[in-house]
Amino acid sequence: MTRPSHRVLTGITTTGTPHLGNYVGAIRPAIQASLQPGTESFFFLADYHALIKCDDPARIERSRLEIAATWLAAGLDTSRVTFYRQSDIPEIPELTWLLTCVTAKGLMNRAHAYKASTDANEAAGEEPDAGVTMGLFSYPILMAADILMFNANKVPVGRDQIQHIEMARDVAQRFNHLFGKGRELFVLPEAHIEEQVATLPGLDGRKMSKSYDNTIPLFEGGAKGLKEAIARIVTDSRLPGEPKDPDNSHLYTLYQAFASAADTATFRADLLAGLGWGDAKQRLFELIDGQIAPMRERYVELMAKPELIEAALQEGAAKARAQAMPFLAELRASVGLRSFQAIPQAAAKVESAKPQLPVFKQYREQDGRFYFKLSAHDGRVLLQSRGFEQGKEAGQWVGKLKQTGASVLAEAPVSLGEGVSQDEVAQALAALAAE
Ligand code: TRP
Repeated sequence: MTRPSHRVLTGITTTGTPHLGNYVGAIRPAIQASLQPGTESFFFLADYHALIKCDDPARIERSRLEIAATWLAAGLDTSRVTFYRQSDIPEIPELTWLLTCVTAKGLMNRAHAYKASTDANEAAGEEPDAGVTMGLFSYPILMAADILMFNANKVPVGRDQIQHIEMARDVAQRFNHLFGKGRELFVLPEAHIEEQVATLPGLDGRKMSKSYDNTIPLFEGGAKGLKEAIARIVTDSRLPGEPKDPDNSHLYTLYQAFASAADTATFRADLLAGLGWGDAKQRLFELIDGQIAPMRERYVELMAKPELIEAALQEGAAKARAQAMPFLAELRASVGLRSFQAIPQAAAKVESAKPQLPVFKQYREQDGRFYFKLSAHDGRVLLQSRGFEQGKEAGQWVGKLKQTGASVLAEAPVSLGEGVSQDEVAQALAALAAE
């Protein structure tokens, strides 16, 4: 398969509803990066990963639809990128198994997500593996398959995912070593942390995250929902007219994530000059809503027509599989799983280990006499008898030659076939005797 210099791949686990932090931290930078020339982007919904964390089918279904709609509404150009659902690519779980078979269990024991579970269990006085599924334990292998399936070299992720990329590299190296015959079957991926992408603070100033319950919704609840959430941003108690400290205000950080440098500078100056928090929140709302309102409109349209989202994803799956299918065939072959039709030479070798036997044939010619001959497996005549009056006589000689082999050749009423040596006949008879 062709391997461009910049193949970017990232997955989004489909368990929640996208919030502003997801948009600023992942969706927006990914879409921007996908517009760079010379970059080939693979973005996918990690819905198999979602099953590890969530056993509520309704939530899984809703989340993957919302996340797909969000990416499309945010301006992802599906003709430029490959956008698909992990669960539409059967080659991914198949590759997961090939990788599972070369992944050291000890490596997986060290994975953060698994360690966190066992540590928490131990702290609570439980069995270390209580509540731990094999899905959680093998999570990094599925993720390695996501990445290696498409030979991505650049994987933009959050810091918490760096270890998983390193594990993918380890597994890829081992597979290359075992089955590559000196060739790199898999490209070794690298984690890519976007330093300049802000980690968006939530309502309370900590990282915006569902687990802190401090998120600002991206589209859910409409403009009203956005406004209400912004109203709940925690500020200090300085009154209008009192100078504010922008560097200690996460409201200011949120503003910065959406504003140009010039607008940010104006906002900063106004805060220092005593802009009231109420007015500051109104300006933040207008700024964000101005950018996301057109996307929200598209989002609402898409959510009302899931068949459009489905069609986009099916197209993406076809593009992805056009790469995954031939590559997986190559990988299967590398571990020894090939169609038998594809291995004529190997089969011939195995057969020649057990030589095909020569055969005696008895027959009657037009002269009325009885004959026999010994033919090699390829049809060449090794021995030719003279004619006998009695068929029985011919049969007796055949029996004798079979049982006693070359030692009776001298007295047998036979001649060697053309270009055939006595040695070859002796070998043929020995092979028959051994049967
Ligand atoms: N594990 C990632 C997360 O929770 C999501 C993910 C799954 C992913 N497969 C991936 C990210 C492959 C990058 C590449 O954020």
